[in-house]
Amino acid sequence: MTYVARIESLASKIRDEVAKVVIGAEKLTDMLFIALLSGEHVLIEGPPGTAKTLTARAFAKSLGLIFKRVQMTVETMPADITGFYAYTLSGQRFFRKGPVFSNVLLVDELNRAPPRTQSALLEAMQENQVTIEGDTYKLPRPFVVLATQMPLGAVGTYALPEVMLDRFSIKLNTAYLEPELEKEVLNKTDTIEAFPVAPVSTEVEILSLMEDVRRVYVDEDLVRYIVNIINYIRSHEAVELGPSTRTSVHLYKLSRAYAALNGRDYVIPDDIKELASYVIRHRIKLKPQVEVEGLKAEDIVAEALENVEVPH
Ligand SMILES: Nc1ncnc2c1ncn2[C@@H]1O[C@H](COP(=O)(O)OP(=O)(O)O)[C@@H](O)[C@H]1O
Ligand SMILES: [Mg+2]
Repeated sequence: MTYVARIESLASKIRDEVAKVVIGAEKLTDMLFIALLSGEHVLIEGPPGTAKTLTARAFAKSLGLIFKRVQMTVETMPADITGFYAYTLSGQRFFRKGPVFSNVLLVDELNRAPPRTQSALLEAMQENQVTIEGDTYKLPRPFVVLATQMPLGAVGTYALPEVMLDRFSIKLNTAYLEPELEKEVLNKTDTIEAFPVAPVSTEVEILSLMEDVRRVYVDEDLVRYIVNIINYIRSHEAVELGPSTRTSVHLYKLSRAYAALNGRDYVIPDDIKELASYVIRHRIKLKPQVEVEGLKAEDIVAEALENVEVPH
């Protein structure tokens, strides 16, 4: 089997496993998978009870990866994430690893954590390592952070700073289900609680596919297309702070994984178009006056996709 066929088939198996317990999350699952293959992190935003935690758990389990979860509160300390030094009764110092030592780390309600704790995560997310009292520890690979946040403005939440938001390759939104699908959740309640998700992959396979996905071809015209979209947004009059270069890099990497997931070993413009909003919207800061007028970051992305010339 070619690497593309292996990625396509694994994506479909993971979708099926997750669907055993989560209703209506196929798209979300695909997005998590391409982020994982790209070695990048994901932010999931939505109201409580919309299966954010459930989806993350099912996804990690289906991959056969080590999954840890940490609930953020106003009192969460950096050590609650990274770990800390402790002493045995005989006075021996040892390192107690925190939940960050995992493959898939679910950080629930990231925006409730105080800034100091948020920044402890930054090193982990960017360098794949943590430093405690001057000692540096490598994290397992793959390492992906799935962070959830409640919609902004909820009580007791901090807005995530731009440097933090920029680390997330995509932002996904969860919402309440259509009544028909919600009925399905109720009818499947016992199955969902039994959590019959089986591992269909391994750490070794994922690491090898992460290597393979780099072979997906991205034509120079498409590289330029990505840069042109980002630049269109940066120079837009409604934008105060535009997307970073890291945004372009993420769009490039995720497009390769998305192409493979769709059975191709080359990227097409539609891959980029379909991912653009997920990758870009959380990294656009609009000018306050246009925000008041109701303009949204999504609108600017849509405008860019309409106006930037598509290569053919
Ligand atoms: N799409 C869904 N599919 C299956 N169960 C769901 C779905 N949405 C909500 N639920 C139910 O709601 C519960 C809470 O979901 P959870 O993942 O904890 O929500 P969140 O993390 O978004 O607050 C689940 O355990 C499940 O019973
Ligand atoms: Mg939750």
